[in-house]
Amino acid sequence: MHSKRENPALPPPVRLAEYRPPEYLIDTLDLKIDLAQEGAIVTATLTGRRNPDNKGEAGTLYLDGQDQELISLILDGRVLEPDDYILGSESLALPEVAERFELIVVSRNKPFENTALEGLYLSNGMYCTQCEAEGFRRITYFPDRPDVMSVYTTMIIAEKACYPNLLSNGNLIEAGDLEDGRHFARWYDPFPKPSYLFAMVAGDLACIEDYFTTMSGREIKLQIFVEHGDEALCDHAMGSLKRSMAWDEERFGLEYDLDLFMIVAVGHFNMGAMENKGINIFNSRYVLADQETATDGDFQRIESIVAHEYFHNWTGNRVTCRDWFQLALKEGLTVFRDQEFTADVNLRDVKRVADARVVRSAQFAEDAGPFSHPVRPEEYFEINNFYTVTVYEKGAEVVRLIHRWIGDAAFRRGIDLYFERHDGEAVTCEDFVAAMQDSSGVDLSDMSLWYSQAGTPELTVSIEHDQHSRRATLTVEQTLAATPGQPVKKPMPVPFGIGLLDRDGRELPLLLSGEKVNKAPTSRVLMLHGAKERFVFENIETFPIPSLLRDFTAPVKIKADLTREDLALLMAHDTDAYSRWDAGQCYATEVLLDLVSARASGRPLTVAPAFIDAVRTMLIDEGQAHAFRAELLSLPSEADIAEAMETADPVGIHVARAFMLSEMGRKLHDCFLHVYLTASDAQTVTDLSTGAMGSRALANVALVFLVASGSKQAFNLAQAQVDERQSMTRVMGGLAALNDIECPERTAALAAFHDRWCDRPMELDKWFALKALSALPNTLDEVRRLLDHPGFDLCNPNRVRALIGSFCNSNLVNFHADDGSGYVFLTDRVLQLDPVNSQVAARLVQPLNRWQRFDEARQILMTEQLRRVVRTPGLSKDVFEIASKGLA
Ligand code: TRP
Ligand code: ZN
Repeated sequence: MHSKRENPALPPPVRLAEYRPPEYLIDTLDLKIDLAQEGAIVTATLTGRRNPDNKGEAGTLYLDGQDQELISLILDGRVLEPDDYILGSESLALPEVAERFELIVVSRNKPFENTALEGLYLSNGMYCTQCEAEGFRRITYFPDRPDVMSVYTTMIIAEKACYPNLLSNGNLIEAGDLEDGRHFARWYDPFPKPSYLFAMVAGDLACIEDYFTTMSGREIKLQIFVEHGDEALCDHAMGSLKRSMAWDEERFGLEYDLDLFMIVAVGHFNMGAMENKGINIFNSRYVLADQETATDGDFQRIESIVAHEYFHNWTGNRVTCRDWFQLALKEGLTVFRDQEFTADVNLRDVKRVADARVVRSAQFAEDAGPFSHPVRPEEYFEINNFYTVTVYEKGAEVVRLIHRWIGDAAFRRGIDLYFERHDGEAVTCEDFVAAMQDSSGVDLSDMSLWYSQAGTPELTVSIEHDQHSRRATLTVEQTLAATPGQPVKKPMPVPFGIGLLDRDGRELPLLLSGEKVNKAPTSRVLMLHGAKERFVFENIETFPIPSLLRDFTAPVKIKADLTREDLALLMAHDTDAYSRWDAGQCYATEVLLDLVSARASGRPLTVAPAFIDAVRTMLIDEGQAHAFRAELLSLPSEADIAEAMETADPVGIHVARAFMLSEMGRKLHDCFLHVYLTASDAQTVTDLSTGAMGSRALANVALVFLVASGSKQAFNLAQAQVDERQSMTRVMGGLAALNDIECPERTAALAAFHDRWCDRPMELDKWFALKALSALPNTLDEVRRLLDHPGFDLCNPNRVRALIGSFCNSNLVNFHADDGSGYVFLTDRVLQLDPVNSQVAARLVQPLNRWQRFDEARQILMTEQLRRVVRTPGLSKDVFEIASKGLA
């Protein structure tokens, strides 16, 4: 990327090192948005002044603006002539602007031509906006950067019959009718905000209303706006919102600040949801749910996304980012907060395992590939590409690391201090760390490395035991491999959770040499700082088995020479949920890799009885929550196995995993059946409690093994689940279990699902995804045919992700077909989508960047397609940035 940019039309990247404060600040912005037939006419009145923090040369006001027609400019009452300003394709510069000024900009944009879904666009007949990160510049000319914070007044004008609801940030201050059947609404948001938090909606929507009384006794009106007919699907989102509001008060003392909080669901949306001040806009799939149409996974995602966006009101909106390099300041912290919320209202251990799974699978993979970047990147071409698992999930792990290091009380004081110092400001990650350092008195200067160094640290752990002195010595060495642009790395502070078990699986007291305590704990968190650290534990009689990285205390990989017996012991006895789950994953991965190599060298496939025994022990342990048992029993995904191999063999991986499922299903048939029946029994279909969801998850996991065993009984159970029809979780569990089996029952079940739901977008997405995820050999043909399905729509990101995204990201065997057909298919779609919606196209192209993982033949086929992408004239910078890094 750095040296060989193949696209000469591309501007240079934006660099953190080149950050300069804005020359002018805008104190107020008065917007009038007239939604007319011929386009949206926007009149923006800016009052501004020279920025006292900027000592640069006087005079030029820079505004961003794009994809709109400039109609007029009036500066301090004077109409400007073309000679008075410099208009570029993405900017407007006004030289010689006074210390204080008023500027009126009139421009027109075309929402009905906007397929990028950034700025002002139409979704199912409703006008809506998406401004993060740089969408506001498509609405009007403005310094579209987060360190310019202004007080907004927004007047919306539209035809009343088609658009009865006119919404924006803050509080409604005025509304009324105009001539010609038009009407208006004026909104005022008293909190200064950056332009990326602006939003407006105009539509004909149903509204569900509720109330929340804050800790200081203020009554907040809560509204959820959805399409007519979807009113009954909002209960869960509303309940999640109220739980989030109560939790933020309780846990962080943070109260909502406006009198009104709105959520609007829209069908066409590039991502999950958006935290616009007072008016969160959501992808409708993260709002709408009932038992019949949404899975438990959907319910859980809704709860955590509603919480996430709500929590942004303080971490993101009241205190925002100085520039987009600081994205993790708001996203990492807010993910940390939504994770804690979910942990507090559901099962903490299960949540920790689920979060660790995301980091280990997706973030470690990103870090190991060509798009590896630090939590705080140093440069970008297109900021939209940096809404990544690294910034979000690793960003949250870095916040968690600080929390772990300084402790809960100091962390809470640090949050208070952060708001005391920075409320109403646009700040940096350093400001956040500084508040934590000052509240705790702990020197956190090395934390900057976690923000600046890309890549996944690896900890090599070894243990020695001396019978004579009864001492166990733990040695931990930390290394961090070079990543693109960062050849040399430094060791980082790592909290390292640990326990020691004896051969009977009993936890040992951990007494460090030189320590004087009455009762040593059996679980501790050691702080690692240097490249190599040594810890000596006293009174250890026999060689201990270490339980490492307990509670996933840091986003690192562990290398330890644990034997399979050690892993089996940890699977059976470890009291730490994460380490116990991890032991199972490690053991299963080893067995799976053995199977892959056995198949490659023509040896017969067998699963060692010791592994089956270890799983049996776990299966019959009923002392754990069903949700946790479901996690324990889930095999690593095909993608996880691929990441664990030097050279991934897609067919081998698929065959090995399928063989393992069927072997385990057969050898442990009765155990799985018992688990399945107990879990199915424990659930009532309408129960949305955490416990009932866990039972359904466990039943569905057991079902996969049972069906893989080939037993007719299991097959019937799967079919029965599909026919129950009351719970989407059960239906999807049944369909997923049948989805790789070529049989008339599968065909009939999918057809029935389609007929039942083809008029409902989110359910139809599920059907598209099932079709795309099948391992059956004709799947790519099927997916190609579905491009012509009347429901397929390249302008609908959810549909694109359901069909194309599912196939390319999660259907390892078929995407990596050895004739390269999957790669060509993806490339065709990316190039077709790029002019329509480059942000989604750039996400789609990413699987091709994993080419280093595969054999030479596939590498050639994949890079050939990447080159085809990069050479395409007129390519967006979104796709160019990703694809060119893939080739660097
Ligand atoms: N800030 C949003 C969140 O954290 C994510 C976001 C960024 C987004 N850009 C977007 C959402 C574009 C939708 C469209 O949830
Ligand atoms: Zn967010």
